[in-house]
Amino acid sequence: MGQNEDQKHGHVAAVVGLQWGDEGKGKLVDLLAGKYGAVVRYNGGANAGHSVVVGGERYSLHLVPSGILSPSCHAIIGNGVVVDPLRLLEEIKTLNDRGVSTSRLVISNRAHVVMPYHKAEDAAREELLSAATDAHSSDTTKKIVSAIGTTKRGIGPAYADKIHRSTAIRIGDLTRPDLLQTKFEMVCKLKNAVLGAMIGEGFEPFDAQTLTNEMVECGKQLAPMIKDTAYLLDDLRNEGQPILFEGANATMLDVDHGTYPFVTSSNSSALGIGAGSGVPPQCVSQIIGVVKAYSTRVGGGPMPTELHDSIGDSIRDRGREFGTTTGRPRRVGWLDVVAVKYSAMISGATELCITLLDVLAGEPELKIATGYRIDGKETNRFVPDGYVLDRAEPVYETMPGFSQDITMARTFEELPPEAQAYIQKIESFVGVPVGMISVGPDREQTILRDAVLAAT
Ligand code: GDP
Ligand code: IMO
Ligand code: MG
Repeated sequence: MGQNEDQKHGHVAAVVGLQWGDEGKGKLVDLLAGKYGAVVRYNGGANAGHSVVVGGERYSLHLVPSGILSPSCHAIIGNGVVVDPLRLLEEIKTLNDRGVSTSRLVISNRAHVVMPYHKAEDAAREELLSAATDAHSSDTTKKIVSAIGTTKRGIGPAYADKIHRSTAIRIGDLTRPDLLQTKFEMVCKLKNAVLGAMIGEGFEPFDAQTLTNEMVECGKQLAPMIKDTAYLLDDLRNEGQPILFEGANATMLDVDHGTYPFVTSSNSSALGIGAGSGVPPQCVSQIIGVVKAYSTRVGGGPMPTELHDSIGDSIRDRGREFGTTTGRPRRVGWLDVVAVKYSAMISGATELCITLLDVLAGEPELKIATGYRIDGKETNRFVPDGYVLDRAEPVYETMPGFSQDITMARTFEELPPEAQAYIQKIESFVGVPVGMISVGPDREQTILRDAVLAAT
């Protein structure tokens, strides 16, 4: 139990990615969920793709929290999430069709709605920006103002509307047909003018009545799940129920602290928990930072340790590094502990979970970036600025690799000495203990070390 907790309230923990996403947060949340009264998403939207494998069955979750597979656990979509209601209903149906109950799913009435025009704007902006970009141009502005490589799930435009306020729609509004009708009449005028100018020929204007009908129908279906989740979480805490937050995206993609502008549009580090759920920050006493044993990134932006060679290709193949959300091949590189140490600082990680360690089996040597050389100067501090980081060359330490299959290992001692040394190197550089090691996608393929077992 953390020092800031009183006896009355349950334990509050969080699982947060410390790299560029896809660290295996979904697997870990599912593994831990059985011990918690609720699993709560606090940021992002359907840009997230969290895979859970139980007994060989694979589930891909985008909006539904990964606690849904634990029958006694509430699955809560907090106010900080941007929800595409059509996708959410599809996801619920897919789960129900596979025999998974969604009766404990709750959605915040204050979560914002991703509308079809947000997705159209996301795609149109990306297209315009990629057309304007020329990586080989001598005109530097052409390289600087570039597409982000978003998931095109409408995330940025939906959060922008939240900040604009008057054009935003919240989940609670879906149950108020009159309000929706009035809002859509005004919003469609505005969106059609802007999108018409951006897209030009072939643009099909959005119709207020069609959108109203569609969203009123979504509202009817979602109504039983819509609640004030800040109060619900307070009630659960007062009952002594432990709560687990599930970070989406990751710390390096945090809009304030990531590799801006190549980030997502929410506070996807642990810093987003308070604002995105209504649970005050001092309540969270355990923050598990998830770290893939190497680096991956999807979309644009700097990645100092990226590999463009056959080693990168073989790690991509062994790790099946293709996006859960978009199917895009993920960029692959060596582990960057400069970035991880910074992320652990920003997210306040109290322990680390190292995932996909099994994927590194067979590499004769393992490299870890413990510093950068930027404009001729060496540093071991991360630079959360996409333009400066683009000039960083990694300074590597090389360690011996291991060749054994480790997917059956269930204790730290069963790992080959080289794999143990690799974990210890991460631990000592980052300065945070490694409490769990994942050696395969299944729930069972996990090594739990004493520190974490004691804390949960
Ligand atoms: P998330 O977005 O952080 O939840 O991660 P994703 O689910 O998008 O990507 C992680 C991928 O790695 C998924 O396909 C998981 O099933 C898989 N995975 C998770 N942990 C392990 C592991 O330890 N070893 C291997 N080989 N795969 C894993
Ligand atoms: P999970 O939760 C990997 C990346 C996108 C893009 C940038 C902005 O599965 O780890 P956005 O659509 O959010 O505007 O895209 O952020 N990105 C992710 N990359 N995993 C994710 O989520 C991501 N969520 C966003 O690829 O580069
Ligand atoms: Mg993912």
